[in-house]
Amino acid sequence: CGIVGYVGEQPALDVVLSGLRRLEYRGYDSAGVAVQTPEGGLAVAKKAGKLANLEKMLAEQPLPEGTVGIGHTRWATHGGPTDANAHPHVGGAGKVAVVHNGIIENFARLRVDLAERGHLLTSETDTEVVAHLLAEATDAQLAAGSGTLDLAEAMRGVCRKLDGAFTLVATHADAPGVVVAARRNSPLVVGRGEGENFLASDVAAFIEHTREAIELGQDQVVELTREGVTVTDFHGNPGEYREYHVDWDASAAEKGGYDYFMLKEIAEQPKAVADTLLGRIDANGSLTLDELRIDHSVLREIDKVVIVACGTAFHAGLIAKYAIEHWTRIPCEVEVASEFRYRDPILDQQTLVIAISQSGETMDTLMALRHAREQGAKVLAICNTNGSTIPRESDAVLYTHAGPEVAVASTKAFLTQLVACYLVALYLGQVRGTKWGDEIFEVIRQLADAPKQVEQVLTTMEPVRELARSLADAKSVLFLGRHVGYPVALEGALKLKELAYMHAEGFAAGELKHGPIALIEEGLPVVVVVPSPRGRSVLHDKIVSNIQEIRARGARTLVIAEEGDDAVVPYADHLVRIPQTPTLLQPLVATVPLQVFACELATAKGHEVDQPRNLAKSVTVE
Ligand code: G6P
Repeated sequence: CGIVGYVGEQPALDVVLSGLRRLEYRGYDSAGVAVQTPEGGLAVAKKAGKLANLEKMLAEQPLPEGTVGIGHTRWATHGGPTDANAHPHVGGAGKVAVVHNGIIENFARLRVDLAERGHLLTSETDTEVVAHLLAEATDAQLAAGSGTLDLAEAMRGVCRKLDGAFTLVATHADAPGVVVAARRNSPLVVGRGEGENFLASDVAAFIEHTREAIELGQDQVVELTREGVTVTDFHGNPGEYREYHVDWDASAAEKGGYDYFMLKEIAEQPKAVADTLLGRIDANGSLTLDELRIDHSVLREIDKVVIVACGTAFHAGLIAKYAIEHWTRIPCEVEVASEFRYRDPILDQQTLVIAISQSGETMDTLMALRHAREQGAKVLAICNTNGSTIPRESDAVLYTHAGPEVAVASTKAFLTQLVACYLVALYLGQVRGTKWGDEIFEVIRQLADAPKQVEQVLTTMEPVRELARSLADAKSVLFLGRHVGYPVALEGALKLKELAYMHAEGFAAGELKHGPIALIEEGLPVVVVVPSPRGRSVLHDKIVSNIQEIRARGARTLVIAEEGDDAVVPYADHLVRIPQTPTLLQPLVATVPLQVFACELATAKGHEVDQPRNLAKSVTVE
């Protein structure tokens, strides 16, 4: 979910709604706002569906103007996406309003207790209990005779009763000019302005107003007024936090002339790759990753690498395994974070765990890394979001510099995750002296060329778009690859599922004959990612045989192959050319046509590619 809070001089509703627009990628099942009214009350509006539904309602039934407000855009967990379940939730006869991201695990018991004390709860959400608990706490303050209401103190008391993960933002009619928030295991950043201050799940929400941000710690409560920001822990002790300057501006999070963020983000990939390489290759062609805060002596001792991630980031991890094992000879496992966490994995001080996450907030990945650190493993985060939780809780971080990625389906973040993984693999090789020779220098040189190569692929995508449009009625598409082409196939299938809502599956091409080949029927589109015929040519030859096997059974073959690879020509119903690259780096160019293919096919089907149904970009629940 996306959360916004504002205290200042501007009309709060405008600030909150524009913030929510920038956070809509975090969920779009419903949206809602609450503002303090000039008469000393609270006005609340909320609506199921996308933010546009709420905006339409507000145009017809405007809220009174105020300069203090909160807002929410929801990805449903407890309770379906209805008006009643939309946030904010109110308590105390409408005097307190709360928005929430996360899951309050003990909400059922708290709800029963509240009902026993005479509270009437009207939604199915876990959030509503917080609104009622806050109302109880503030009523108790007033009953105890304290003239002014201390909403932050009330919030601290409530947080001490909650289990689970949450970001909460609240405002109270009797605490004019104040918004308070709390965070445990869910994202929350503060934006500092002049005479105004902001709260949000992500800096994108306030970047048009200020680039000065505060990264909060775990289990903290923050009180916002026009004049200042006060941070404490859940017991009222002063809290530690880090201030930072956001180094991108509002235009980076806008569409910039493209119809969709996804198209813009695909087009930005050469720059994203270049920015991620910037300053990390020195004049001698070696790597400088001094930013990693792990001693070389520790890196030399590592005897196992474990990569944890979710979704697209997991696919980057699968590719990294090939690179790490080939270039460093350290055994490497890759696992989806949600499985790893609960499997009792074997880790020790000599294990390097790499957590890959664009947002830095994915709860499954966060829990996996905590579990790893508890076992004594060192954790390196590969992350795109400064100030997020995963890098903060890791021993070291390598940032990707993709800039803000807004479309829910990941594109440029994926390519930069690959670059970061290659850098880590090569750096481990450099530090440990394994396989460090001409081959590696050549790979680094080729990696430095990647931005140009990605650029080149992007200029040749028109036939891919045409093909995608022609397949809008296909029921299913299969993706095949071998070696690093296999995770690329998985990623191509994931993109199509996410965007076009059609059946798509990726297979290791060699495994096809052991079962999935039964799926092949006349005309079934099958995308095949072909490894380079140079270098490990045996792989190439095997896949050419695989293409023949499926074509013999009626498949329509869409072949992605290197320039100059003539062997595939007779078996390709459609051929997409990519530049020549070393096998291990091929995913950087081979993924691009698959992104374009999924985006175009989904658009042809009339789907909204930036916000696919049921998904959210950053999933902060387990
Ligand atoms: C969500 C998104 C995916 C993304 C995954 C991991 O499920 O819908 O597109 O790949 O989370 O996100 P992360 O921010 O950890 O890379």
